[in-house]
Amino acid sequence: MTHHFFRTISLAILCILLPIGKAAAKGGGGCNDAVSAAIKNVQFRDYLAVNSPYEPAVRIFSAWSGGGGDKAMIPQDSGHPFAGRYVGSGDRSTIYGSRFYGSGYPSSYTDNGGDAVQGRGFPYGSWPISWGAYRGGEEYTSSTLDVLRPGGPLVTVSVTPNPSTNEVYQLVGDRDSVMFMMSDLVDWCHATPQWPQIFSESGNATRPENVIQYYRASSFALTFAGYNNTAAVGAASSTASVPLPDSIVNSPFLACINDTIAVALPILDWPRDAKGLSAGAIVGIVFGAIVGATILFVLGIWAYEKFKSWYIDRL
Ligand SMILES: *[C@@H]1O[C@H](CO)[C@@H](O)[C@H](O)[C@H]1NC(C)=O
Ligand SMILES: *[C@@H]1O[C@H](CO)[C@@H](O)[C@H](O)[C@H]1NC(C)=O
Ligand SMILES: *[C@@H]1O[C@H](CO)[C@@H](O)[C@H](O)[C@H]1NC(C)=O
Repeated sequence: MTHHFFRTISLAILCILLPIGKAAAKGGGGCNDAVSAAIKNVQFRDYLAVNSPYEPAVRIFSAWSGGGGDKAMIPQDSGHPFAGRYVGSGDRSTIYGSRFYGSGYPSSYTDNGGDAVQGRGFPYGSWPISWGAYRGGEEYTSSTLDVLRPGGPLVTVSVTPNPSTNEVYQLVGDRDSVMFMMSDLVDWCHATPQWPQIFSESGNATRPENVIQYYRASSFALTFAGYNNTAAVGAASSTASVPLPDSIVNSPFLACINDTIAVALPILDWPRDAKGLSAGAIVGIVFGAIVGATILFVLGIWAYEKFKSWYIDRL
């Protein structure tokens, strides 16, 4: 265990250095593989305007990140389908919603012009999933909109433990987030790897009453077919959600899925110029990082060798 941990750390140090270390450490392929398994990450783009490839017209989503930062308005003259709405500033600490559509918006995004998700901004960058004409979600669904959806079209995938049991959940969300979460759930919760399929709000068996947890301002959902939340049927009401079935309420597999989604689901980063760094400061940071990384690299190799000989002595 300790050995494994140590190896991971050493590899991580090595691979952070990969761009510099490539020449020094020829044949870094194994290194790449080991580290990507240990610290898998993903980033994708949120296009807020087409006239500039730079921020604020393009923002970045990252897995495992903290989110936060200032709200920004999608430029009024951008031609974006949701021009004039706000984007960003959602912090990972508020990523959980409830079992109701329209939940999970941070307090800076409480106002809405209508039902549940209608007319609202995008605190985490992503758009609410859509169940069609249900609680205002109809404005986020059409074949033309779906190609513009941050992270790609809405998809769904089953999440089952490996070896399988009859505990079957579904993820619903944009393609990139679902693909990433699927691979993370395989690593962290021993889920069976599966490919997502296109999600159709009318054609699929999963319904809003099957949702056991919304995340990221209702833009990502976890569902269970054996759960029927009658309080979620029809128009919004103040009725409390139906409790989870006994079969899953204390499930460690469910707890693992729920926790992993909350910590890893990609969310919008701070605007990149948020800290107002000058070019000089950036050069300084890059230079400092190279020097620091070189020191870590040497230390990592030294410590690894030390540990290896100590470990071999003990055998
Ligand atoms: C959902 O519905 C669409 C369209 O009817 C279909 O192509 C797709 O295979 C369905 N997905 C699942 C998981 O059943
Ligand atoms: C997921 O975790 C949150 C925070 O611990 C909790 O409030 C919520 O009930 C959990 N959801 C499910 C479906 O277990
Ligand atoms: C949930 O229960 C209601 C009322 O019994 C029923 O009309 C509905 O089809 C059920 N939904 C699902 C997804 O099982």
